[in-house]
Amino acid sequence: MKAIDHILSKTGLSKDDLVYLLETRDRNERATLFSCARSTMLEHCGNNVGLRGIIELSNRCGKNCFYCGIRAGNLEVERYTLDDRHVVAAARHALEQGFGSVVIQSGERHDRAFTSHITGLLKQVKKLGCGALGITLSCGEQTEEVYREWLDAGAHRYLLRIEASNRKLYERLHPADSNHSYDRRVDALMTLQRLGYQTGTGVMIGLPYQTTSDLAGDLLFMKDLNIDMVGMGPYIPHPDTPLSQPAASIQSPEERLELSLRMIALLRIMMKNINIAASTALQALDPMGRVKAVAAGANVFMPNITPVGEACKYRLYEGKPLFDDMAVATLAGFEKNINKLGLDVAYHAWSDSRHYRERMHPAKNTES
Ligand code: 5AD
Ligand code: SF4
Repeated sequence: MKAIDHILSKTGLSKDDLVYLLETRDRNERATLFSCARSTMLEHCGNNVGLRGIIELSNRCGKNCFYCGIRAGNLEVERYTLDDRHVVAAARHALEQGFGSVVIQSGERHDRAFTSHITGLLKQVKKLGCGALGITLSCGEQTEEVYREWLDAGAHRYLLRIEASNRKLYERLHPADSNHSYDRRVDALMTLQRLGYQTGTGVMIGLPYQTTSDLAGDLLFMKDLNIDMVGMGPYIPHPDTPLSQPAASIQSPEERLELSLRMIALLRIMMKNINIAASTALQALDPMGRVKAVAAGANVFMPNITPVGEACKYRLYEGKPLFDDMAVATLAGFEKNINKLGLDVAYHAWSDSRHYRERMHPAKNTES
């Protein structure tokens, strides 16, 4: 029996197994890994790929993560916060185009003006189509009270990436202060889960200082936490950040892409019915990156539907479609490519994670 057949026949993969499969150079083993992930996805998630439109509400952020282009310390960035009417118009247009869900994403802020703004916005988006749109939030670490307020206002999924589950690595990627505490991040994830959110996390792949053992640890972390959804993708250096300095050497784009696809495939095999997003960062490394992610076991596609600049204002005033043509073209191209894989885009559906439904209602068989 080949090493991979032995590994894949086990009920639980060990850290050594995961490292082996992340590193193997054997072409047949690689093909077996991806084909096992694909068939697992078909069996446990069906042949529909969930669709969510991402709205980047604001790039104002109070934090200073060393890898992130919109960190507070980057004075080169022009900061913006979208007007509510633009957000609501984008969400309405998404609904009309057949999107069943939106993701509202923003930098992390804790002031009351911000948290209340999100609450108000959720209520407005929730009203569209009488609650037809599912809403995922991704607005960082907040208190339990704020998470509860947002849940009550209509959010039901939350994405909070752990970024790197190895505490030491996490600490190399963030300033050493209470605003960037590893423990607080883990606590926030557990709070979200306890409150009843469909909870998502994720990591960056191919970071400086990161080993394959760290990545294997990330997969085990997500499994241990019993997470419902995952968005993980390659690290892409941003020139205006401390982590992009030459001393912090990283793997080639090809290697980071390959590792990202293997991480998706392995996670699909380990957590059969969770939602795994084909992350946007993959696209930065390869125009077919997100399609390859689906072929590797991802089952959610999240095109960016943020209204853009003056064109957006113009279009809004004119009552013309708010999507920029890129978003429409991206979705059409993606759909054509996944059709070739025998998969369809799930229009007009929330596409909740089956894992979540089973976690919340273990008695019911919710596989249908
Ligand atoms: N490369 C890839 N992903 C990044 N993120 C932030 N900076 C980078 C980068 N340089 C991701 C983080 C964060 C999400 C909003 O964007 O994982 O959680
Ligand atoms: Fe970037 Fe998020 Fe860190 Fe803010 S909290 S600097 S948006 S990664």
